Amino acid sequence: MNPDATPASVSSGSPVLQAIGLSKSFGPVEVLKDIALGVNAGEVHAIIGENGAGKSTLMKVLSGHLQPTRGELRIDGEPVHFSGPVDAERRGIVLVHQEILLAPDLTVAQNIYLGRELRKGLVVDDRAMNEGARQAVRDLGGDIAPDVVVGRLSIAQRQLVQIARVLLVPHRVVIFDEPTASLTPVETDALLKVIADIRAKGTGVLYISHRLQEVKEIADKVTVLRDGKLVATRPASELEPVDMARLMVGRDVAKLYPDREAVAARETVLEVDDFSVPGYAQHASFQLKKGEILGFAGLVGAGRTELMEGIVGLRPGRGALRLAGKPVHFSDVHASLKAGIAYISEDRKGKGLLLAKDLRENLTLASLGKFVRGLQVDRARERAALDQAISEFDIRTGRKDLLAGQLSGGNQQKLLLAKMMMLDPGIVIIDEPTRGIDIGTKEQIYKFIAKLAQEGRSTIVVSSEMPELIGICDRIIVMRGGRIVGEVAGEHMTEDEIVVLATGVKTGEAA
Ligand SMILES: Nc1ncnc2c1ncn2[C@@H]1O[C@H](COP(=O)(O)OP(=O)(O)OP(=O)(O)O)[C@@H](O)[C@H]1O
Ligand SMILES: [Mg+2]
Repeated sequence: MNPDATPASVSSGSPVLQAIGLSKSFGPVEVLKDIALGVNAGEVHAIIGENGAGKSTLMKVLSGHLQPTRGELRIDGEPVHFSGPVDAERRGIVLVHQEILLAPDLTVAQNIYLGRELRKGLVVDDRAMNEGARQAVRDLGGDIAPDVVVGRLSIAQRQLVQIARVLLVPHRVVIFDEPTASLTPVETDALLKVIADIRAKGTGVLYISHRLQEVKEIADKVTVLRDGKLVATRPASELEPVDMARLMVGRDVAKLYPDREAVAARETVLEVDDFSVPGYAQHASFQLKKGEILGFAGLVGAGRTELMEGIVGLRPGRGALRLAGKPVHFSDVHASLKAGIAYISEDRKGKGLLLAKDLRENLTLASLGKFVRGLQVDRARERAALDQAISEFDIRTGRKDLLAGQLSGGNQQKLLLAKMMMLDPGIVIIDEPTRGIDIGTKEQIYKFIAKLAQEGRSTIVVSSEMPELIGICDRIIVMRGGRIVGEVAGEHMTEDEIVVLATGVKTGEAA
């Protein structure tokens, strides 16, 4: 590696894995341009950049999932060519994908050992696999029964299974593509410890995250990508999160949260009265006002997502709902949509977008009625709507004929927002609005939510990020163990007060 390019290089000898002049195009669009990158043994090298900057594409090229259009890869200084991911794995280069790619009908253990089953003689040794899987997940700070089918697990649990599966492969370089996006703080800490461990054993780590504080903590080196180009590689010790943000976005990101005027008391648009979602949420009562941004805080598993899913008809719920004073009950999500409630799921892949369909189809799917003329769908109007959505939501896409699954993760989230807004909802419920979203785009999404309020729409935001709730909400309801345990507003919207309510642990003064 050219020592001038990375004066910070702390290691000796050649990098374990190296990219030289690497470019990648999809059709006419070049999404990686002349990248030079080296991963050293025993080093955590973070890759940061905006949504769509090319991080995942680069990682897929480095791990044999994609072929580069130009340029070269080297291992220990020797040129290599990966015929595919299995070939790269054989040389110890492994990737933990950003998306969850597990077989939902197989068990945890079967997924972890898929393709390399443990055998006793000729038979598959389920017992050994179950034991191995239990331990592998436990090493990651998780506790998941190895014989459960993966389809029953939460997103965070699936992510742990996916990481466990990859770490069982003998490795020299492990690539993590946003591994913590859906993990809880406890699981995140456990994973960061695991990463510190494998680094200490001499493994090279490539680490992608939008959580810049986390990058600061774990990384030795940071590389910033912008629009497919490498803009800087620096020692992490030289960069504070604000510097990282500036390098990523190309401008200062000073103010993340928009200024808003407090809403005066206004009419109630949604009233939830003694509402229960069996097994998840009990006796929830609250009101949502016109133009209000109402937050829902709580630990993972507090029942927030399930309560919202119950309200909109995605799960069976019991209790009273009144919309503008009129009793309603939604037996499915189409009914609540029709009544003007848009629910934007945290699980955009499972419940939000059709990844194998193109952008236009995804955008207009829920509001197709608007685009029908006579007996036909008016394609020109659909295309115009897509153009507008791309500009309004700043969806970064090289081409308009992409499939939704070919958009970068953050841009999928923007497409989902655009799709729901086509329905002109009066009430918007957003679960984890900025999961996997870069800091510049976060700012855009917060502005967008503030604009909804300004237009007189009401928004419920479920989020595990307290600063986000405090930054954008008028009022925050806190849930614990399936129940609403309190509410904070105004100067009481502090992390301390929310944590006390969410955990039930009184610290004396804070309560
Ligand atoms: N198979 C594909 N065909 C066409 N374009 C693609 C394909 N895969 C990715 N792209 C495009 O390449 C660009 C880079 O995407 P990539 O997924 O690498 O971004 P990213 O930096 O990982 O973003 P995020 O932070 O949102 O995950 C995007 O414009 C994306 O739409
Ligand atoms: Mg990505």
